Amino acid sequence: MSPTRREVLRLAGLGAVAAAGVPGCSLIAGTPQPQLLTSAAPLPAPFARPLPVPEVARPVSSAGGVDFYELTEQVAQADVLPGLRTPIWGYGGTFPGPTIEARSGRRTVVKLINRLGEPTVLHLHGGHTPPESDGFPTDLVAPGASREYVFPLEQRAATLWYHDHRMDYTGPQVWRGLAGMFLVRDAEEEALPLPAGERDLPLLICDRSFGADGVMLYPGLGERPGVREAYMGGVLGDVILVNGAPWPELRVARARYRLRLCNASNARAYELATGGPMIRIGGDGGLLAAPLTVERIRLAPGERADVVVDFSAYKLGRRVELRNLAGEGAQGMVMRFAVDRDEADDSAVPRKLSEVEALDPGRAAVRRDFEFGSGSMHGGTGWLVNGRPFDPKRMEARPKLGDVEIWRLTSDVAHPVHLHLDHFQVLSVNGERPQGPPEWKDTVELREAQTVEIVTRFTDYRGRYVLHCHNLEHEDMAMMAAFEVV
Ligand code: C2O
Ligand code: CU
Ligand code: CU
Repeated sequence: MSPTRREVLRLAGLGAVAAAGVPGCSLIAGTPQPQLLTSAAPLPAPFARPLPVPEVARPVSSAGGVDFYELTEQVAQADVLPGLRTPIWGYGGTFPGPTIEARSGRRTVVKLINRLGEPTVLHLHGGHTPPESDGFPTDLVAPGASREYVFPLEQRAATLWYHDHRMDYTGPQVWRGLAGMFLVRDAEEEALPLPAGERDLPLLICDRSFGADGVMLYPGLGERPGVREAYMGGVLGDVILVNGAPWPELRVARARYRLRLCNASNARAYELATGGPMIRIGGDGGLLAAPLTVERIRLAPGERADVVVDFSAYKLGRRVELRNLAGEGAQGMVMRFAVDRDEADDSAVPRKLSEVEALDPGRAAVRRDFEFGSGSMHGGTGWLVNGRPFDPKRMEARPKLGDVEIWRLTSDVAHPVHLHLDHFQVLSVNGERPQGPPEWKDTVELREAQTVEIVTRFTDYRGRYVLHCHNLEHEDMAMMAAFEVV
């Protein structure tokens, strides 16, 4: 893409005619946007179900400084809509899968057992993982086979999640249920008086649509990868699930709660708000240096935010809705908290949370450009990085181990861009420094016609990894680039 075109687009905002006449480029006007898939089943009443909290996985063994887990992928029935059974593909037969609680620096091994009829790949999103365990999209685990994924977790405490990553089929396989939370804890964080125990809650948020019989609808193409043309831009469900339940309710005490918000949706971005202050304490890559009081939190697919909400600010009997300001109608609701009791609370949010080193862009050895856009591929339209569809054999970059690099990402329509291996910091958005102190991220949302510069350092592991759009339909339609740390 020529800079001229990007400038034109930016000047025109999202102008429909902005790119007209520029040869060789896709037009935003004709570029598909995420599309709502309407359920045939009646939408369930909101706030009728208690919030489920996924079970914490128990290690099969914990000898020699290694926590060893087994995770079996299997078909199961879930109870999502009243009176209907929903077939799912679940880790351990549940959706979401069990929460894995791990410790920084303590080796966690997950043996993935595939009892599904299709190949799968396990990826720990946000994990600092050696390449053979990172879930490269072609490292398939065949039906009936198993594979051990080794996570050394030489990384700070953070809210991570795990999900399927099979090339061309991540969208439908995650949609069917292959996702779960993975919390890394460490001593630094545990020394803080943050809400803990039952008041430290993972909230995995995703949207789904259902057929009249309760099945999850997905506009796939049968045996072929991809989705029906109308859904090229991404699939949006009309039912919002938190931990697998539609618009659930949680009874809370008048106390502080830590909510680990994870957007596990295929293509939906949320703008979460309670109508009152939320204290953001962390993001994709763990604790911020200091808490930030915010009224809303935008989360693109793949992103996480750690927030503390103090329900002692509300009277007994108050109901506090967590809303999605980016959604309309039922999709504007997420869940509800019912403040129903008094309880002692000795938690606090300290003014200083952690140390966050600012990566110095002046030390960057290399700058690279990655353009996220659409274009023709194999005769149809696809989502491309630098004009090319994903080829797992072609390395788009070969960063050197230990180097700091600046990657300049540009978009046509919105793309949540995710980098494997190392967390990064955002240097600029359309040329401007982001507000606030630096924080570690692994996914950054590019809005329409944006340029975002990130800085990262490639550490610890050599090998093949990927950079991709986390709109899972875009990802499956080739918006991914492989790179090799050398
Ligand atoms: Cu959450 Cu490469 O993925
Ligand atoms: Cu990832
Ligand atoms: Cu995208």
